[in-house]
Amino acid sequence: MKEWRVKRLSGSLGAKIEGADLGAPTNSDIDRIKSLLLDHKVLFFPAQNISKTQHTSLGKCFGPIEGHPNLKNAYPDHPDLFELAASQGGVADEWHSDLTFQQRPSVMSILHMVKCPPVGGDTMWASMEHAYNELSEPMKELCTGLTALNDALPHNRPDKMTIHPVVRVHPVTGKKSLYVNEHFTRRIVEMNWSESKAMLEYLTNWIKSPQFTVRYQWSEGTVGIWDNRCTQHYVLNDFDGERIIQRVTVVGDKVEAASAPRWSPSLSKRPLTATSRHDRQLALYLKDMGQITDSSPE
Ligand SMILES: [Fe+2]
Repeated sequence: MKEWRVKRLSGSLGAKIEGADLGAPTNSDIDRIKSLLLDHKVLFFPAQNISKTQHTSLGKCFGPIEGHPNLKNAYPDHPDLFELAASQGGVADEWHSDLTFQQRPSVMSILHMVKCPPVGGDTMWASMEHAYNELSEPMKELCTGLTALNDALPHNRPDKMTIHPVVRVHPVTGKKSLYVNEHFTRRIVEMNWSESKAMLEYLTNWIKSPQFTVRYQWSEGTVGIWDNRCTQHYVLNDFDGERIIQRVTVVGDKVEAASAPRWSPSLSKRPLTATSRHDRQLALYLKDMGQITDSSPE
């Protein structure tokens, strides 16, 4: 078995792997990647320069892959390969994990850096396990009993919504992760709008704390692989010129909650007021799901 050199990149998460060939991975290579992902959550493999076919084949080693549900695909011959170009607005400069507006958000993403700007355009990742573990016990307790509404508003599809637990459990390790993000999460279901706003602002800022993160400076041909269930990521929008990535995502699994929600959804029971508009989206979702019969407040 060829030796891989593994170098940790921060105290929280991330490792650089040298000596691997992702263009022609063996079964034991895939097992090694799975194991390393559990340990480090995000892996970087420099100088791979894989073809689009090799990229999609690599993705399929981990499970069925999916195209982007909302954004246009650049490659008719590779419908499961998604390209983001900075010149087309493809800079994800808000913290998020991928596709959390879906009921089963992708379990992992595999990114190939095709074109880098001369300087800048690094990506940061943060460990949501670490972010959860560092909360105080009362805050952990509160978060564990909550759920949150996520939607695809950043893709102009606010009608695509789902509810996820605020704390999820990793299906392999059993570890808990915070699971709200500033990009797709709109509302804590069990809190009123004002409380939800404060809570989400706190949590989405908390997860950015530098001690939970790693920052990676790309070079062309590098492949990055991350576990989407226990991390968030963010692209630094600090560059001029083009930046092109290609990505495949592995179809998601069921999001397992650390606990069932401990309270009912919080919707205003008062007559229609100016602020009741803040409950409208949640009310519509719950009505669609058959959890309430009346979609008011309208
Ligand atoms: Fe992303």
